[in-house]
Amino acid sequence: MTLDYSKQTNILFHGDSHGDWRSIFHHAQAMKDCLHIHVGDIGMGFIDPELERQQWKTINEILAENNSRFIGIRGNHDNPAFFKSDTSHYLEHIYFAPDYTYFECIGTIFLLVGGAISIDRTNREKNVSWWEDEVFVYDESKIRKADVLVTHTTPDYCSPVEYASVVHYWIVEEAKKGRVTLYNELVTERDILSKLVAAVNPRLHVYGHFHDSCNERINGRIHRLMDIYEAWSPVSI
Ligand SMILES: [Fe+2]
Repeated sequence: MTLDYSKQTNILFHGDSHGDWRSIFHHAQAMKDCLHIHVGDIGMGFIDPELERQQWKTINEILAENNSRFIGIRGNHDNPAFFKSDTSHYLEHIYFAPDYTYFECIGTIFLLVGGAISIDRTNREKNVSWWEDEVFVYDESKIRKADVLVTHTTPDYCSPVEYASVVHYWIVEEAKKGRVTLYNELVTERDILSKLVAAVNPRLHVYGHFHDSCNERINGRIHRLMDIYEAWSPVSI
């Protein structure tokens, strides 16, 4: 599918929403000619489908009034089924992007790749609040150079570099149930994110997942961590 964002002249990134779309709603009202880009954990697939569709239809109408569009990637708290190419573009101004979606906007090439591991997966119900195919997938055949890379999780050298106490809590909880791979899976995931960033070589990398806000320059590249409900517009890309 070809994505046409030639009429949008502003970019606004959105942090994790977890099913509370009021920030998206308000920013959709406030911004004109804007491409809204969501870094995942939108919270798709957790509420009654009709109610969910109605909320996105309302956002879609507001986006249309303001010549704006929305594109988002899957986090670990999204049903991956929404982000398949056959079902994702179900409203005209809203697109739930499959992994390795490329597009151009304001003369800038964007690459979007979703996915991450849920640390609390042992406490979740499969195919209801947790999906086995939630993980980030490194696909070398789909990697090309891009100016801006948007992912849900991040390389190991980006903030946060330490594992928070809640991560250790869930590692122990999984171990109690006989599964001892979580720590290694998390380390591997962030390691392959490093490989992705190196291969894509973007000027700007934007991500979420960690429920914190950070802006850091590492080896000449800006890495921007988006907090929950945070909205951020880069001064220049
Ligand atoms: Fe997440």
